[in-house]
Amino acid sequence: MSFDSNFTAVVTGGASGLGRATSELLLKNGAQVLVLDMDQEAGEEFSQAHERAEFIKTDVTQAKEVEAALKTGQSQLGSMRALIQCAGIAKAEKILNKDGSPQELEHFAQVVQVNLLGTFNVMRLAAAQMKSNEPDSDGERGVIVNTSSIAAFEGQIGQTAYASSKAGVHALTLPAARELAREGIRVTCIAPGIFDTPLLAGLPEKARVSLAQQMPFPQRLGQAEEFASLAHEIITNKFLNGETIRLDGALRMPPR
Ligand SMILES: NC(=O)c1ccc[n+]([C@@H]2O[C@H](COP(=O)([O-])OP(=O)(O)OC[C@H]3O[C@@H](n4cnc5c(N)ncnc54)[C@H](O)[C@@H]3O)[C@@H](O)[C@H]2O)c1
Repeated sequence: MSFDSNFTAVVTGGASGLGRATSELLLKNGAQVLVLDMDQEAGEEFSQAHERAEFIKTDVTQAKEVEAALKTGQSQLGSMRALIQCAGIAKAEKILNKDGSPQELEHFAQVVQVNLLGTFNVMRLAAAQMKSNEPDSDGERGVIVNTSSIAAFEGQIGQTAYASSKAGVHALTLPAARELAREGIRVTCIAPGIFDTPLLAGLPEKARVSLAQQMPFPQRLGQAEEFASLAHEIITNKFLNGETIRLDGALRMPPR
């Protein structure tokens, strides 16, 4: 479905991977897109390559930075109707190191800070902007799509921080959707399985092949375009609300 020419979507983490593919699909369907990302080089390159895309370097964990970016975006592109949150980090670390010493508390906190607090931070500020939008014929003023992970449900060894942060993103979906219903704002969540993005680029080829072989069907890694397609469906299908949707080719992660 194509969007009205003044339909604006904000995409966090839109300079890479799942967020970038989503931004591209929304642009292709006529939306204006504001990309918020820490990666200045990739973000600027993206906005220069796409006429209806803007980029503002933003750290999703910083309240003032996000507030300012959303304000600037609103004055440049109009108020946002959709927020898709893909900014995130995936750091693996065991509770006990090889020498028996405990994981640094700071390392755990950093992952939760970006993935959970960052997601909540942008969501709260976006909701405050969306609530003043003109409602559409269904009374909808906006839609928020957050990104969890199947690690929220089957975290592997070394994923305590990542799994906790993503479980938090899943858990806030329903209470947020219930609360923001009165404003006409939907809140949903996608829990991807394993997708072929720069996030996985650090893995050796052998590990990537082994991951793909664990997939029930199709026996390959997910493509970022498949994530983008689901995000687009969520934006346009008004009856999707308060739900986390797994997008994983039936993968259930083993302990390691
Ligand atoms: N790729 C996968 O297999 C997979 C699986 C499950 C969940 N996810 C989740 O999907 C989301 C997107 O992942 P991806 O694979 O596209 O990763 P990616 O590394 O390709 O993209 C993530 C983007 O987020 C940005 N970012 C990181 N920290 C930020 C911050 N504090 N503020 C603003 N931007 C920040 C990065 O600069 C990057 O551009 C992440 O939340 C990730 O945890 C990915």
